[in-house]
Amino acid sequence: MRLRLTLNGKRVSAVVPADATLLEVLRQEFGVFSVKQGCETGECGACTVLLNGEPVNACVLLAMQVEGKEITTIEAIGQHPEQGWKLTAGLDPLQQAFVETGAIQCGYCTPAMILAARALLTENPEPSEADVREALSGVLCRCTGYLKPVQAILRAAAVLRGEEVPPIDGYLGHAVDLGGEDLPPPEPGPDVAPDILTRTGIMPQIRVATDTRAWSSVGRPEPKVDAVKLAQGKPAF
Ligand code: FES
Ligand code: FES
Repeated sequence: MRLRLTLNGKRVSAVVPADATLLEVLRQEFGVFSVKQGCETGECGACTVLLNGEPVNACVLLAMQVEGKEITTIEAIGQHPEQGWKLTAGLDPLQQAFVETGAIQCGYCTPAMILAARALLTENPEPSEADVREALSGVLCRCTGYLKPVQAILRAAAVLRGEEVPPIDGYLGHAVDLGGEDLPPPEPGPDVAPDILTRTGIMPQIRVATDTRAWSSVGRPEPKVDAVKLAQGKPAF
């Protein structure tokens, strides 16, 4: 059967079996590998795409059910800022926030989470935490959990509203005093020559530089080395 649809803003078509699912057609016909194959029974949400802006599970839809409709996958969202010679818009604020907050571990659920979040923020630019959790309820994450993705989506929502968000980093911004004390200058006396003013046997004061990162990977978000790739749904799986 001939299927015609708008995929990420482009009109496309393919001849597909009548019983092919949208998931199969997106991956096998159109090479859209950001749409992940999980349970294939509509439970895990890894295959989430936007159908006319609404999140749906591509594994439980027949491809022909989207005839003439608009499908959006994460390939339509954000670009990599260093894409060869091309000047691009960079990551979408949602992708950026997922990277920054450490909301990505294996990244298998990430495109689905970002698409679910995109649908939410389009409808409700100022969601509560409960709204975000509700929006993510159809996407299961086996490794990161939900706290970081929820933080990421609330952060992206604030960015999209034009609000200032605090930087996420591990810099303490102040000196760490590791011991010692500020010593008064030695008094001239019988053992100290007034023109030398030194003495021995005293532990020096030790300070670290003010911009040193403090033991900083434990207990703080750390962008994974492959987080940008995973936030874009690149074909790692
Ligand atoms: Fe579609 Fe799990 S693969 S819901
Ligand atoms: Fe691994 Fe969600 S399933 S990051």
